[in-house]
Amino acid sequence: MSEKAYLVQVGTTPAPETIVIKVMENGPYEVHGCPPLAQAIIEQNALRQSWRYRAGKPFALTEKAHLCRCGHSRNAPFCDGSHRTAGVDLTETASFAPMLDEATVIEGPSLTLADNKQYCAFGRFCDAGERIWNQVGLGGEDNDRLTERMAHHCPAGRLLVFENETGAPVEPAQPAALGLIEDPALGVSGPIMVTGGIRVESASGESYEIRNRQALCRCGQSANKPFCDGSHASIKYRDGLPLPEEH
Ligand code: FES
Repeated sequence: MSEKAYLVQVGTTPAPETIVIKVMENGPYEVHGCPPLAQAIIEQNALRQSWRYRAGKPFALTEKAHLCRCGHSRNAPFCDGSHRTAGVDLTETASFAPMLDEATVIEGPSLTLADNKQYCAFGRFCDAGERIWNQVGLGGEDNDRLTERMAHHCPAGRLLVFENETGAPVEPAQPAALGLIEDPALGVSGPIMVTGGIRVESASGESYEIRNRQALCRCGQSANKPFCDGSHASIKYRDGLPLPEEH
């Protein structure tokens, strides 16, 4: 039996086929394959810039787990059926085309940045240093490492860095995992950060491009569903989960 071919972004190693997220029509995300799931809390540096993730509470997933994507569950991160009465339109609107097709490209001395702002999850890791769009143009070892750091922390994969000399993406492989973004600096909860090339299948049965970093909307208000577009920040979405203290 031949394997079905999916679009895979350059620099991405697909997760095992058993791990897949299926978007349910006007319903939750159905997660297969039990990837690890935990809160991913955005922490700031001394300059109050988004800088790293701290792992929060883990959640065990059953083989076919249902995660809320309407923003109304009282049992977050799991679906409790609230989408049936919440009146939120969960229709998918995102493109199935490769994300880089519509990316803006900025070439620096040694690195090139590709950016598709439609996928912005407002994690603000790009705002460190000189901001990534300027940082990539500075060149030099320290500036390049900071450019890479900012891109690699972008939860949505909006930002992708390439090495000019080889044309290869600079994209460290990540384990297949899910993170519930929590953003205490803004007092909001964010998308599900999906790392490690997990396939996301539309309710139509078509698959989105498989990418190393993706962010799935769970507030229900994105205009680019199923992907996050940062709307959770403006509507002040909260999942109601407490944030564990740092030890
Ligand atoms: S979680 Fe970001 S727009 Fe919904």
